[in-house]
Amino acid sequence: MADEGLRVVMVASEAVPFAKAGGLGDMVGALADALARLGHDVRVVLPRYYGIEPGRLRKVGAPLGVPLDGGEEWCAVYEGRTPGAGVPVYLLDHEGLYGRDGIYGTRSEPEFRDNLRRFALLCRGALQLAKALDWVPHIVHAHDWPGALAPVYLNTVERFGAFAATGSVLSIHNLGYQGVFDKAHYPAAGLPWQLFHGAGFEFFDRVNLLQAGLRAADVLTTVSPTYAAEIQTPAFGHRMDGLLRHRRSDLYGVLNGMDYAEWNPANDAYLAATYTDRAFKRGKARNKAALQEAFGLPVDPAVPLYGMVSRLVDQKGFGALCGPAHGSLAWMCANFDLQFAILGTGEAWCERELTSLAGRYPNLGVHIGFDERLAHLVQAGSDFFLMPSAYEPCGLAQMYALRYGTLPIVRRTGGLADTVVNYDQATGDGTGFLFDSLTPAAIYDTVGWSLWAWHNRPHHLDAMRKRGMKVRFSWADAAERYGEIYQGAIDRRLGRGPRT
Ligand code: ADP
Ligand code: GLC
Repeated sequence: MADEGLRVVMVASEAVPFAKAGGLGDMVGALADALARLGHDVRVVLPRYYGIEPGRLRKVGAPLGVPLDGGEEWCAVYEGRTPGAGVPVYLLDHEGLYGRDGIYGTRSEPEFRDNLRRFALLCRGALQLAKALDWVPHIVHAHDWPGALAPVYLNTVERFGAFAATGSVLSIHNLGYQGVFDKAHYPAAGLPWQLFHGAGFEFFDRVNLLQAGLRAADVLTTVSPTYAAEIQTPAFGHRMDGLLRHRRSDLYGVLNGMDYAEWNPANDAYLAATYTDRAFKRGKARNKAALQEAFGLPVDPAVPLYGMVSRLVDQKGFGALCGPAHGSLAWMCANFDLQFAILGTGEAWCERELTSLAGRYPNLGVHIGFDERLAHLVQAGSDFFLMPSAYEPCGLAQMYALRYGTLPIVRRTGGLADTVVNYDQATGDGTGFLFDSLTPAAIYDTVGWSLWAWHNRPHHLDAMRKRGMKVRFSWADAAERYGEIYQGAIDRRLGRGPRT
């Protein structure tokens, strides 16, 4: 079967270039393309958020009926294609549920109150659409809590019939978000109350979509080997560690790749100058000047520049950088001869704190917003890239930094530990700087260590930049691995009876 390629439907809330709030969107778009290039018949199903213009999309078939609580919701279906491998992307159009700004919420309402219903429509709609197209997938690959109901439906209301041989895979991109709702929302999923307990939705008397998905899916994956091990411990398990230990023989960590076409300093149209790993100094210097200017920093080639591009949330280490009670950022700006350029958007407290610090320290430039061009410029123009995450399932930004000859300074956790090799000052080996505990002092000391190397071991840093630019995190390799995992999921589906 694998030789002919598998039919795979991706059920996700984000996929580039249609919708992206973070790395999930990058991953889904890139994995779909990589699987298609291996000969699989991949399709993606997404909501047609308000921000996705239907102008360039094609309308497909008749309106689709999707059974939810008691009745049926109707959506129009549009089709787009990924620009890379031309994978079909079906967008479910439903004015009442998706006809508004925002993917999960907005600034004033960070999580829409009807999110359970919105993503139930996505999951059930993906299965209904497959039936309507007479295209029964071998695999349903769901992503994070918004996709988690898809394997649950496969195991319950769609256990027999068209999907009896369809295997399911649920990928965990971030265990910190589980889709937890007041149980009054449960009926919107269109499942009977006995499954509230029976299918594992119940979570401290609330509904937890991810938990039910983690029980239902034939196979579970996450996006790096280290994170796969970490989430089985209480410290990283977000209360799912027991369940994940129980399912550990079905849980795989597959490191994400990165998109080397989109992120290539040799032909990146967003940059002030392009460059390669053979000759990067002049190009990086011109980008550094452009970056300093864009962030209102003094233009000075000699002062080391530390960049960040991040969601401004606790997960990314902002508590230790600029938390309410303490933080190392102010301390570093005051004591060290360096500059910071921080691009991000996120929680209000964090945006406020960074903006206020930027007003106090002339060597701190902050840009609040989501800006693709600036993200590329920060990667290219910085000397170092800081990512002190509390946890990091994979992390793409540090991979981009390596590719752009910008030395990552990261906490040794999840995908960061799997992608960055620590500097060895005796041999000059490594591709970046790692530290263990997430404390203001550890960040301060590690940045201090990188400054020491900047002044005393510049030849080491040059060699590390070159080395980092040559590292490859390949989507083709990851897709091969997913192909094997899919086969395992189909075998599991065929080899066992209903679970619930
Ligand atoms: P996460 O998915 O947890 O946010 P990743 O490192 O996997 O972390 O992916 C983050 C992605 O989002 C990267 O592509 C990064 O460049 C992008 N990104 C994050 N914040 C911004 C921003 N403010 N502007 C532009 N791109 C951003
Ligand atoms: C999540 C994680 C991030 C990962 C991305 C793509 O957003 O926080 O670490 O890289 O998903 O898998």
